[in-house]
Amino acid sequence: MHTRLCDGRNLECAGSVNSAVGMTSIRLAGPLDEPYLKQCIESAYHEYPRLISRGTAPLERAANAVMEQVSNDGFAHVAEIDGQTVGASWWTPETDEEMSVAYFVTPDSRGNGVATKLLEAGLVEAKARGMRSTLVKTHPENQASIALARKVGFEPVVALLRQAL
Ligand SMILES: CC(C)(COP(=O)(O)OP(=O)(O)OC[C@H]1O[C@@H](n2cnc3c(N)ncnc32)[C@H](O)[C@@H]1OP(=O)(O)O)[C@@H](O)C(=O)NCCC(=O)NCCS
Repeated sequence: MHTRLCDGRNLECAGSVNSAVGMTSIRLAGPLDEPYLKQCIESAYHEYPRLISRGTAPLERAANAVMEQVSNDGFAHVAEIDGQTVGASWWTPETDEEMSVAYFVTPDSRGNGVATKLLEAGLVEAKARGMRSTLVKTHPENQASIALARKVGFEPVVALLRQAL
């Protein structure tokens, strides 16, 4: 796999759609988006602290580790409504043919299809990178995340339980 965060001066637009709240655009994240992306990752973990395999690592450390994975072997998309950033998705490799995705949308902008657009654009990008499947790791009580993923075609495959020691 190749590329990482694309060149911030040459951002590729992955699509846009008009909605009741304005024009939603999805584009690949570049280096200039890194602070925003990190903020999204931390916010997602903050809202959702026992997230997946991040265990009990401090949020900032966990977010830094994800950022590194995104930069090295993954990619990220940023969503904007009328030029204002409202969310992001970040994709990291599981294997040569499978990536995981996570996402965050600013509370004020939720319920407008932003995450749906982020996922749809990311699925196209992952496929173009040769991926054959994708994973969402989410908490069983995160109904918004689960409903979103199912809406765009993900299906449950495994139940994972953890006990902190
Ligand atoms: C999950 C999240 C990204 C959804 O963002 P969003 O832009 O509001 O999602 P969309 O508007 O695209 O909604 C898509 C679908 O998700 C479902 N959904 C969204 N919010 C929901 C909610 N609060 N409760 C139940 N289902 C919900 C609906 O099925 C919706 O489809 P519909 O509008 O056709 O009914 C957002 O709530 C969020 O950022 N949550 C905090 C971060 C997080 O939990 N990330 C997951 C980490 S894996």
